[in-house]
Amino acid sequence: TGESAGAAVERLTRWCDDFPVSGVRFADLTPVFADAAGYRSVLDGLVAVAGDVDLVAGLDARGFLLAGGVALRLGTGVLAVRKAGKLPPPVHGREYVLEYGTARLEIPAAGIDLTGRRILLVDDVLATGGTLRAATELLESAGAVVPAAAVVLEIVALAGRAALGGRPCHSLVQV
Ligand code: PRP
Ligand code: MG
Repeated sequence: TGESAGAAVERLTRWCDDFPVSGVRFADLTPVFADAAGYRSVLDGLVAVAGDVDLVAGLDARGFLLAGGVALRLGTGVLAVRKAGKLPPPVHGREYVLEYGTARLEIPAAGIDLTGRRILLVDDVLATGGTLRAATELLESAGAVVPAAAVVLEIVALAGRAALGGRPCHSLVQV
């Protein structure tokens, strides 16, 4: 057994004050994912909490790095939940509010039938929860079921879990 996800996150996370805007302390997990043991440990942790799903969806952009690895381990396909303007029409979309501004998430509305699909949502960080909530509602609006979300790091003070309105969200590390 190697290093735990918690130990890897503790060892390698880069905390950046006043990014991307003043007053926000940004948790950059880039060094965790770039470290072989760190990346393996977070994938192990996410797979362990994944539950019974048949598709893994990653959130643009940092969630992409995780979703592919988790999907490969689980033996599912992978879906990219994109920020606005990246996908050809038709799309399903949903606006959301970030700590710093607003954004819009989109998924394809053609070529893939999400009706009844059981999707694990994966992202790097749960902060205010706006991103995960919007993604969950977006997938549900397309007919999918989202039994749970899973993130590497939860910033508890930002109360993202409450924003998810009781939907299950697994976090490997809480700060
Ligand atoms: C960051 C992070 C999460 C989200 C968490 O993404 O990667 O996706 O914020 O914040 P929330 O819980 O307050 O919604 P960001 O939108 O900065 O973009 P990126 O992943 O493309 O870097
Ligand atoms: Mg992100």
